[in-house]
Amino acid sequence: MQILKIEGGTRLEGTAQLVSAKNAVLPILAACVITDQPVTLLDVPDILDVENMLGILRELGCTISKDGKAVTVCAANIDQEKLPDHLAKLLRSSIFLMGPLLARMRKAIMPFPGGCEIGLRPIDLHQRGLESLGVVFHDEGGYIRCDGSHMRGGVIHFDFPSVGATENVMMAAALTPGKTVIHNAAREPEIVDLQRFMNACGAKVSGAGKPTITIQGVKRLHGATYRPIPDRIVGGTLLAAAAMTGGTLDLRNAPDDMGAIVAKMRDMGCEIREEIGRTILLAPKRLHSFRQMQTQPFPGFPTDMQAQMMALATMADGVSLVMENVFENRFAHAADLARMGADIVLSNRMAVIRGVPKLHGTTVVSRDLRAGAALVIAGLAAEGTTIVENITLIDRGYERLEDQLAALGAKIERVEEMNGQKQYD
Ligand code: EPZ
Repeated sequence: MQILKIEGGTRLEGTAQLVSAKNAVLPILAACVITDQPVTLLDVPDILDVENMLGILRELGCTISKDGKAVTVCAANIDQEKLPDHLAKLLRSSIFLMGPLLARMRKAIMPFPGGCEIGLRPIDLHQRGLESLGVVFHDEGGYIRCDGSHMRGGVIHFDFPSVGATENVMMAAALTPGKTVIHNAAREPEIVDLQRFMNACGAKVSGAGKPTITIQGVKRLHGATYRPIPDRIVGGTLLAAAAMTGGTLDLRNAPDDMGAIVAKMRDMGCEIREEIGRTILLAPKRLHSFRQMQTQPFPGFPTDMQAQMMALATMADGVSLVMENVFENRFAHAADLARMGADIVLSNRMAVIRGVPKLHGTTVVSRDLRAGAALVIAGLAAEGTTIVENITLIDRGYERLEDQLAALGAKIERVEEMNGQKQYD
């Protein structure tokens, strides 16, 4: 088992460069299935979720080649519509393949994607959206068989602006005869990036980033070379790490969609200068509380930054209230932060954090991807040594997070446990 070992107390400062966003790359990789021409994606992060998605594409019959951080996918010879169970279970985002397989093959067979650490994550909105295009779903004991033989354009009204459901319908509608309109669509920057990618391949999609998206079906898509948008959540995580240590960060190629994150950090006393493609943060010696934060669909505060901001609040001056409105179970990091000395009270989707003067290092466990990042951030400022276990979850969405932080001066290293003996006590 690998762990991260962190010696707290070092002020972070320096420059960071962001790779393409996990939550843009995953649906775009799925969308490669829609065309029989090769697609090359640039600056692809070397993370577990991408590796698992590439594994699924290979098992569907795609050829994958890599040249540094460029990944080329060719789905010319996909020969099956059934997702491999063992891989689909590893990756919740395998659900994004439903739409592309229906577009290309007019059928898809997939295991029910499990819930995960942050909630049940049902797929009813995906199903209702695709049924509006004429897809018929059959529950076949743990598998879902989707029949798209009579697909045609339709009108969808989402009860909730689900990111994945919006993306699935966009991709399914790309080659579906007629016009499809999605109302109450998700407006995340990754949705806009998917539209941009699909149109680069010859699709006719418009409106992404607004509540109504329109897709005009076309006969086929061609290939493209495409650079997905930088990762706003990795960017926000690095800004939070610098802020936690009273440091500075010059974030190059910063995306222009970090407004809610930057506003909240300014509320905590950080000086942040935003230039085109660059964000420069200078943190105060001690942060003050952000008083209250509500996670919302974009352009509200992103749920994927909630855990990292809670870590900041643990040592901020004052009391902070967090409302997690997007996922029903996304406070798993609170218990581990409390073990480090944080003062947190939870009630359903609400957390109240009273800032304490210091945290102390101890052994903590990553409960989900962003919870793990939050514990690393806390460890950077805690007194003594913090050991973060179960870091595979962090590796799902961060490319060697320890290297990125060490480059900013953090005392952090990845340690291997040998023959079951902990080498890091
Ligand atoms: C995407 O997940 C992201 N993942 C998540 O990032 C992110 O937290 C989430 O959007 C919200 O921004 C990827 O893009 C790969 P949703 P997704 O459908 O599409 C409920 C990370 O840390 N819902 O917008 O699954 C759902 O249970 C990950 O990088 C239904 O009820 O998010 C949740 O409560 C975590 N029925 C809410 O909607 C459905 O059919 C938002 O889910 C679908 C969703």
